[in-house]
Amino acid sequence: MKKTILTGLRPTGNLHLGHLFGAGQNWVKLQDDYNFYLEIADVQALTDNFDNPDKVRKNVKEIAMDLLAIGIDPNKVNMFIQSQIPEIAELTVFYSNLVTIARLHRNPTVKSEIAQKKELFGNEGESITYGFLGYPVSQAADITAFNGELVPVGEDQLPLIEQCREIVRKFNSIYGEVLLEPQAYLSKTTRIKGLDGNDKMGKSLGNAIYLVDDEATINKKIMGAITDPNKIKKDDPANPDVCMVYYYHKLVNNSDNVNQICAECKKGSRGCVQCKKELIAKMNEYLEPIKKRRQKYEDNPELVDEILKEGTAKAREKAKDQMLKVKKAMKIDY
Ligand code: TRP
Repeated sequence: MKKTILTGLRPTGNLHLGHLFGAGQNWVKLQDDYNFYLEIADVQALTDNFDNPDKVRKNVKEIAMDLLAIGIDPNKVNMFIQSQIPEIAELTVFYSNLVTIARLHRNPTVKSEIAQKKELFGNEGESITYGFLGYPVSQAADITAFNGELVPVGEDQLPLIEQCREIVRKFNSIYGEVLLEPQAYLSKTTRIKGLDGNDKMGKSLGNAIYLVDDEATINKKIMGAITDPNKIKKDDPANPDVCMVYYYHKLVNNSDNVNQICAECKKGSRGCVQCKKELIAKMNEYLEPIKKRRQKYEDNPELVDEILKEGTAKAREKAKDQMLKVKKAMKIDY
């Protein structure tokens, strides 16, 4: 029997190259070999966007289309909407007894998110809600509602998986062996750097290329990408290893071209403008099939609705089944 994997993402914005080369390609590979639940975590997105429901609503569809565009096959993956699985909310309530407030504050992912919020809003007491602090509990419910054995995530999510494992152990030790202890499934893909050279490509950093960016936008973004600051004149020799244009060539160009670009750059026989123009062409070429697949769904939004409806219905069946077991174990199976 195929193992079950469960992963999720928050619908707060479109997918960018960081998602594509990070989690995205990995998920596409995994879909053949696993029983795959892919959650669009709108309830989790609402924990810090509760005052912006329109944004979350819009991005559920956007993210679904992006995922289909990168090659997630709805015949292989149950793509579902978190808010439509009430069992997840129920489990969250039950699990909330099994976690201390102190432990949530010690969770490194939560800790760094709280630190960011403090920087933005000042006083923690005024900006950290009960729901936000508790989102790892809700994420444990996401995973265990489907008996997820493996959870493909990036490193930043490891503390959340660990928190889930603790909840599972606690639950099982009190109520009996019902829940499965999940394992993180770390992808080998590296984190994609931003146009500004930052180690992370991210929406909040304003340094991302989105799959939905049109050619004019891609043009503008790549023309503004960071190159070797020591290269002043067109024929100065430069160091490709500090150049973001070279970095993206390595992602979307073929290895012969990449080797040639590297050699010419080091020699000083290649200007940055020419190099950027070549990258723009390659980037557009690379994104074209993705955009084409997306277009089909943009033109037929009812297809996306149908995929989400079916995926959610299947996920619901599984979660209901799990809920019966949980309630029986907790002696609340009236
Ligand atoms: N917290 C994850 C993120 O921000 C998204 C997520 C929600 C998730 N539920 C999940 C990931 C369950 C793995 C398993 O990227």
